[in-house]
Amino acid sequence: MKLSDKLANLMNAQIGNEMGAAMQYLQIATYFDARSLPKFAQFFYTQSAEEQAHAMKFLHYMLEIGAEVHIPTIEAPVYEIADTAAAFQMSVDWEHEVTEQIYALMDIAVADRDYASQTFLQWFVTEQVEEVSSMETLLEVVNRVGEKNLFMIESYLERTPEEE
Ligand SMILES: [Fe+2]
Ligand SMILES: [Fe+2]
Repeated sequence: MKLSDKLANLMNAQIGNEMGAAMQYLQIATYFDARSLPKFAQFFYTQSAEEQAHAMKFLHYMLEIGAEVHIPTIEAPVYEIADTAAAFQMSVDWEHEVTEQIYALMDIAVADRDYASQTFLQWFVTEQVEEVSSMETLLEVVNRVGEKNLFMIESYLERTPEEE
């Protein structure tokens, strides 16, 4: 099974997108860690590790089918985070964007009749449903509770089971 050049290029780009997400979430984690909100920080450290794992999934898949891995330049994360709601809004937007990136990969795999890649990408389609949903839930909770009562969400996060 050989990847089309188009799909290979886009998968390499996706390795960069996932690593970019990992760095953005790491940056957000430091925002919370510096403000003594350890559960928020932990949530984003975990998200960051998950994004790196996503990049590794692409990398290993490409190697497995004999495609060349070219890790692209990764853009620096956004450092300016206005407040907690902004951090979660940024994350929700990002996850929607990633969902579109995964769909674009899937579109090519379908056009290529590349069934192996379709099966591989299906995992990410399902994962994105989960990621968008959990970020949207947290954004909603943050908006409801407000910046002054963030400690309440700390205990909420403590009750939220770890993913995967
Ligand atoms: Fe991801
Ligand atoms: Fe994600």
